[in-house]
Amino acid sequence: MPYLHATGLALLALASVWYPCGADVGDFSPCLNFFYKSWPPKGLSGTPICQRYENQYRFASLYRRQRRSPVFSAYIYSQPEGKRPSSDWKFEPQLADATADGNMALFPPGVLDPNVVNSQAVKQDYHNTSFTRGHLNPSLHHETHTDRLSTFTLTNVVPQKEGSNNGPWEKLESAVNHTLGSYCVGEAYVVTGVIPYQEDVHWIKGHRVAVPEYLWSAYCCPKYNESILNAARLGEFFPTYAAIGRNDPNSTEEIVPIDRSSHKMFWGYDVKRMPLDTLEMYLKQRFGSVINVFYEKCLALR
Ligand SMILES: *[C@@H]1O[C@H](CO)[C@@H](O)[C@H](O)[C@H]1NC(C)=O
Ligand SMILES: *[C@@H]1O[C@H](CO)[C@@H](O)[C@H](O)[C@H]1NC(C)=O
Ligand SMILES: *[C@@H]1O[C@H](CO)[C@@H](O)[C@H](O)[C@H]1NC(C)=O
Ligand SMILES: *[C@@H]1O[C@H](CO)[C@@H](O)[C@H](O)[C@H]1NC(C)=O
Repeated sequence: MPYLHATGLALLALASVWYPCGADVGDFSPCLNFFYKSWPPKGLSGTPICQRYENQYRFASLYRRQRRSPVFSAYIYSQPEGKRPSSDWKFEPQLADATADGNMALFPPGVLDPNVVNSQAVKQDYHNTSFTRGHLNPSLHHETHTDRLSTFTLTNVVPQKEGSNNGPWEKLESAVNHTLGSYCVGEAYVVTGVIPYQEDVHWIKGHRVAVPEYLWSAYCCPKYNESILNAARLGEFFPTYAAIGRNDPNSTEEIVPIDRSSHKMFWGYDVKRMPLDTLEMYLKQRFGSVINVFYEKCLALR
């Protein structure tokens, strides 16, 4: 039955072209593999984005349209190779038009589609400001060049002060690379997100893109080498550990104290490492709801 066969193939082809287009924004189901046990963090609200680049899912982000910035990005760590790429910035076409292509795209030259500008941050939002584009999912935590390029999309970045981005937060990303690269023997799942200001929303240049007061990050590495960890006295860092970093020297010090001896460029941008439980306690305080970052706190039977 060659006729039926051909029709079946055509239908299959249609299905595989259409399905991911509809699902990249609004649903994590095509990219649940980036979460430990396929279980996205609970207690945070926003629009799921399966971050697709060159027709492959690379990581996942939870996005807040009102803030025009992400709540978190989730990814699987892999040991980096080569230099940090320089890349032009990309956007998510489906936030502006649900029927658009699901791949992230480079900003076109010239005047931007107002629906794109309305739905997300654009490069101009960051021009002439004191904020850098802070990756939640950093290019440093990926092995392949294409995975690294895919992190340069504005739905993966938040307004981050340079003192944090080029100081203590960069040190944290580097420490996590060394810890996971040296001691994690299976997959390492990482989630990195923001804590908004408690009262007034702070915006870049007073409008459009919301600035976070803190950044947080947590990893879950269910498979690790216990004997070498114990020998290195690093047992407390596995299977899971977390951190919170300041993004504003004017913040109070209950969550992260200021190291008064730090260099003035980095003064007030400290990062505090802490167990996952402690992070979740602060998240609960600040978001006003119970937040679970990993399935069974990453302590489930391994
Ligand atoms: C940034 O500032 C420069 C110099 O003041 C100005 O020419 C430029 O238009 C500004 N760009 C944006 C996006 O505001
Ligand atoms: C990442 O960590 C690995 C393993 O510890 C290390 O060999 C490598 O030099 C680190 N890469 C960077 C860019 O720091
Ligand atoms: C843990 O590391 C030690 C020392 O490198 C090695 O001999 C041992 O086989 C490793 N165990 C596992 C379960 O990977
Ligand atoms: C901190 O507060 C002071 C005084 O209100 C203000 O001048 C300064 O710009 C603030 N710093 C930051 C980084 O917001």
